[in-house]
Amino acid sequence: MDPDGSTRRALEVAIDRAGLFRSIEQAQRDGGHGASSSSPHAHRHLEGLEAHLASIIRFRGGPITLAEFMQECLTHPEFGYYMHRDVFGERGDFVTSPEVSQAFGELMGAWAAWTWESMGKPSTVRIVELGPGRGTLMADLLRGTKNLREFTDAVAVHMVDVSPANRKAQREALKCGPARETDAENGDNELSRGKNPRRRGLGEVRVPSNPMTIRGGSDGEEASSGGSTREELGLDTVDVGVSGINGAVVEWHETMDAVPPGPTIVIAHEFFDAMPVHQFTRTERGWCERLVAISGDVAKGRGGSSSIGDESSRDGDESSRAFEMVLSPGLTPAGALMVPRRLEGVDASRRDGLRQLEISPRSLAIWERIAARLEEHGGAAIAIDYGEEGPLGDTLQAIRDHEFVDVLTDPGRADLSAYVDFGAMRRVIETRKNSGVECYGPVTQRDLLFGLGIGQWLEKMVEKCATEKEVDKLIAGCERLVSGEQGALGEGGRTEGAGKGAGMGFRYKALAMVSKGLGKPAGF
Ligand SMILES: C[S@@+](CC[C@H](N)C(=O)[O-])C[C@H]1O[C@@H](n2cnc3c(N)ncnc32)[C@H](O)[C@@H]1O
Repeated sequence: MDPDGSTRRALEVAIDRAGLFRSIEQAQRDGGHGASSSSPHAHRHLEGLEAHLASIIRFRGGPITLAEFMQECLTHPEFGYYMHRDVFGERGDFVTSPEVSQAFGELMGAWAAWTWESMGKPSTVRIVELGPGRGTLMADLLRGTKNLREFTDAVAVHMVDVSPANRKAQREALKCGPARETDAENGDNELSRGKNPRRRGLGEVRVPSNPMTIRGGSDGEEASSGGSTREELGLDTVDVGVSGINGAVVEWHETMDAVPPGPTIVIAHEFFDAMPVHQFTRTERGWCERLVAISGDVAKGRGGSSSIGDESSRDGDESSRAFEMVLSPGLTPAGALMVPRRLEGVDASRRDGLRQLEISPRSLAIWERIAARLEEHGGAAIAIDYGEEGPLGDTLQAIRDHEFVDVLTDPGRADLSAYVDFGAMRRVIETRKNSGVECYGPVTQRDLLFGLGIGQWLEKMVEKCATEKEVDKLIAGCERLVSGEQGALGEGGRTEGAGKGAGMGFRYKALAMVSKGLGKPAGF
């Protein structure tokens, strides 16, 4: 499975490993896959994701990028962290804002409805959520806007998530009833049924007119795409349903590219922090890339890479780890592409002081693809995450059971995430040729939520409470969303906001992007 479709294809940067480690021929002579006799860990039998990662390293004949390691750990179809279990909540590994209080999703609903109004109330608007987790934010958004009839009638929901386990949970959260994946696989879904989609068990639920129709010709008429099937258009909807919350059609996709054209509002909450990062270290040889090798291989003197016995092994028991972080002998192709681009426009004194650099090219590519979509069809996007304006050093963190753990130990069993470099995201938009979009922010989550009226929301909700206990719970949830203070980089992320009670108001920030002419979005 290719979680990010063409983004992934466009962004994968192959490292020329000639002279870096050892050749594929050598690897094959040594017996090919798995932890072979060259490693001090040969005695340790590798299984599951560890064995898979080791076999990639062996087959490639050298270490892999941290981005590749992270991607496999999070989204490998069989062993990936997100793919087969519920990782959220007090009983999972971390808690996110929508899980803390329904205020979050409801206020995002207000944001979406305001944005739709500023777009001129298009008769169909695609609300796209990237990485919706359990689906809590979208459920609260739909519930919170249910009485805004005109908006609700316009909404078509698109959930983009690579995880089958999360998609299942989202289906339940949105009250879509049991999955009919075979229908979707056969192209028999709401969108391929032509003008009259009210069929097969949809009952009395409202279904908007054919969303395959592209709206917005100059005279405002609908221009039909001619009845093409999703397959013909190359759009891979993996599941469809109708939400029992507000009657909106909901479609699930593995990539954003599969979302049909049309005016769009994109919401990405804690999505970009899960996108793979590359890391670079400045040495006397220039910017070298941090790579993941099988423990002990580099110490054996294979190629020019060098071991890093440093903070990258945070709290890890190195002797039991199958993998270690190593440094490339010099600038890698990924570094040559990304480092100068990231350092462009950075103040010289800041730039000269940098020793580490962390870059997520996938995040930037997705943000740019959203920009292209908004330029073509109009709309807005909001990314909310823990992050800074950057440039960032080493913020990659592994969390398990609400605690930091070593990044390389137990791959696939801990959440891996990195702070979002909002400065880099804003810059790709600002430096875009003939850009038809504008960025706003980042603003703190606290400012965003106060701007969207969390105070008034709370007052209204408190009036409806029957007991003091309910009031206390509501207040505590809202407080957690807006309180706290800016912690040191890499010390926050998901843990403090998760389970330990510290506030999320400053560490989390929001960046918005709107098609030109929409003006400043609500809350910014
Ligand atoms: C940290 S969770 C955030 C969940 C949710 N937004 C929340 O705040 O509770 C990241 C989400 O992104 C999804 N995800 C991770 N990598 C993805 C990718 N490459 N493509 C699509 N979804 C991805 C995961 O399955 C998960 O639902």
